[in-house]
Amino acid sequence: MKILIPVLAFGGIGVTAVLGFVMVFIITAWFGNPLPVFGFDQSPVQPIAFPHTAHAGSEQLVDAEGNPRFDADGNPLTGIGLDCTFCHRTVTSTNVAGIPPVETCITCHRVIGSTQSEPLKLLRAMGLGDEKLGIDAGPIQWKRVHRLPDHVRFVHEAHIRFLTAPGNTDLIVNRDEAAIAAGTNADGSVVAAVACSTCHGDIKSQTQVAQVEPLKMGHCVDCHRKNDAPTDCTTCHF
Ligand code: HEC
Ligand code: HEC
Ligand code: HEC
Ligand code: HEC
Ligand code: HEC
Repeated sequence: MKILIPVLAFGGIGVTAVLGFVMVFIITAWFGNPLPVFGFDQSPVQPIAFPHTAHAGSEQLVDAEGNPRFDADGNPLTGIGLDCTFCHRTVTSTNVAGIPPVETCITCHRVIGSTQSEPLKLLRAMGLGDEKLGIDAGPIQWKRVHRLPDHVRFVHEAHIRFLTAPGNTDLIVNRDEAAIAAGTNADGSVVAAVACSTCHGDIKSQTQVAQVEPLKMGHCVDCHRKNDAPTDCTTCHF
């Protein structure tokens, strides 16, 4: 008995510790960032190294070594500050934001950008076809970065409408104050592009898109609960 009691006691602690560990594991798996050990690819390499910095950003561009770039006249080469909705056209009207077709890229890159640039050579080949490279014209197979499981439903339109409405802009997470100042309308609403940071972070500063928010169920339900949005299971689950 004298030996058994400590063994049982320690055994109990052991079981509690294991159970605790399992609980913590489940809770973090549910609410936290997906664990990289499960092969979660937060920033896949894309078929063409498409830089949001050059298109949506307006800062000076840098080369692969991190050196500032200049145009032929020696002026700083900066991003062209396109609005997110220029390319993600359906984000304010439907469930999906939409990725632009290669034709959109070619309208500019038929002429814009160096003929020596490797990613642009590949882009032009994919857009126009290139016999020498043996590439037929066709769509670019972009890799998805953000993807919810198939049993979950997400609607961009509802969220953009909500976050850009007058009085709701305080709810925008990772706020870009300069963009908010520039993108505020007379009625206090803001342009769609300002709202994206809530779930996607600062995309215009990324040369390769990475998922920065966990976008787990806890994150969604939390905001729904705080803002009187529906929280019944069928809102988000098929
Ligand atoms: C010139 C067109 C263009 C503009 C402007 C643009 N994007 Fe994109 N975006 C793309 C393309 C092409 C992809 C797919 C390739 C990639 O992931 O890098 C993409 C991918 C994304 C993704 C990842 C999609 C996924 O697979 O999960 C997000 C999020 C995104 N863009 C948000 C934004 C935001 C926010 C802005 C404005 C700050 C913006 N984009 C401006 C073309 C554009
Ligand atoms: C409105 C015009 C415009 C559109 C549309 C556009 N781009 Fe660009 N793109 C630019 C400009 C300007 C630059 C900066 C030029 C540079 O890097 O030399 C650039 C740079 C790039 C670069 C970097 C080139 C390098 O040598 O580093 C890639 C790759 C690229 N774009 C791909 C795309 C793809 C893919 C699309 C379509 C989804 C697209 N672009 C749509 C104007 C555009
Ligand atoms: C409330 C969170 C939230 C906001 C705000 C948001 N997104 Fe998303 N976005 C998501 C989620 C979640 C996914 C993955 C959806 C899926 O897998 O069904 C996604 C996927 C995407 C994709 C890839 C799939 C698609 O729908 O084409 C793009 C591109 C994108 N978002 C762009 C944007 C842009 C641009 C904005 C701002 C105008 C924006 N998002 C605002 C949560 C958000
Ligand atoms: C920033 C707060 C916020 C976040 C984060 C958020 N939601 Fe929402 N969501 C709302 C609000 C508010 C509404 C109601 C909008 C309206 O008035 O139609 C809503 C509506 C919805 C709807 C119903 C849309 C319709 O019209 O049928 C779905 C589905 C949904 N959200 C799914 C999600 C999922 C999945 C996530 C997480 C990936 C998420 N939401 C994250 C605030 C949020
Ligand atoms: C506001 C949107 C939203 C609502 C409401 C919601 N869920 Fe979810 N749920 C999600 C998202 C997003 C995921 C996928 C990401 C994750 O695993 O957390 C998910 C995942 C799940 C999973 C799978 C977990 C896993 O590890 O694969 C289950 C089970 C689940 N939800 C059950 C429920 C039940 C039961 C309810 C109602 C009480 C509910 N959900 C309500 C958004 C929601």
